[in-house]
Amino acid sequence: MGKLNGKVIVVTGAASGIGLATADLCAAEGAEVILLDRHNCDVADADAVDAAFRGVERVDGLVTAAGIAVRHPLADQDEAGWDAVMDVNLKGSYLCAKHAIPRMPSGGSIVYISSAVALIGVRNRAAYTATKGALVALTRNMALDYASRGIRVNCICPGFARTGLTRPIFGDPERKAKIEAMHPLGRMGEAEDIAKAALFLLSDDASWITGIALPVDGGFSAGHQHDV
Ligand SMILES: NC(=O)c1ccc[n+]([C@@H]2O[C@H](COP(=O)([O-])OP(=O)(O)OC[C@H]3O[C@@H](n4cnc5c(N)ncnc54)[C@H](O)[C@@H]3O)[C@@H](O)[C@H]2O)c1
Repeated sequence: MGKLNGKVIVVTGAASGIGLATADLCAAEGAEVILLDRHNCDVADADAVDAAFRGVERVDGLVTAAGIAVRHPLADQDEAGWDAVMDVNLKGSYLCAKHAIPRMPSGGSIVYISSAVALIGVRNRAAYTATKGALVALTRNMALDYASRGIRVNCICPGFARTGLTRPIFGDPERKAKIEAMHPLGRMGEAEDIAKAALFLLSDDASWITGIALPVDGGFSAGHQHDV
């Protein structure tokens, strides 16, 4: 008996990385999974999201893993890059939840994929970090707004995991070693590490959990590990 038997789960960013691993795990646990990614639905495009949800009658769970990253300190961040990362990471999450919620008449679970950089600063990621911090705040607000309707809203804050997004890091031995040293458990994450947490938050095992920002990060956000 799967943990998501009979449930309909929408996953964005489902063609790669964390979204793909989450979609695979949800399907293995018995869910009907609706996969959204940019070739069939640009989550930053309100009309495209509206069209993607139009044929969907019921939603039990939503995982918003569609995301892009930009890497600049604020004064070097051009406006187009700022807008793009806001549109995909933040507005995309808003648009998908806006369409999922009316399709959750008997409750549901929304899982935003935020980031550990929302919890602990990392240099040169101003716009990206702002989107992820906003998702943590949005999670808490929505948890309160929708608790009475049985809709739980949580987010996951992953540390650095090996996906398409981080290929420039783990493809470079020097950067990879630096990143690994920032994670007390001594390795980068795998997409499946995050997917397992998403499955938990989607499932009835988390039926009394709402409004949390769950680090899944090998200890990255626990603090500095230097012995001083
Ligand atoms: N990998 C990490 O270390 C890490 C850490 C913290 C948070 N995250 C977050 O996890 C989420 C998933 O990223 P990932 O690491 O799996 O990267 P990834 O690049 O492997 O996957 C991201 C997916 O999102 C899709 N996507 C991008 N823009 C889109 C759009 N406009 N509409 C629809 N789909 C779109 C891409 O096509 C891709 O399939 C992102 O929100 C990312 O910010 C990743």
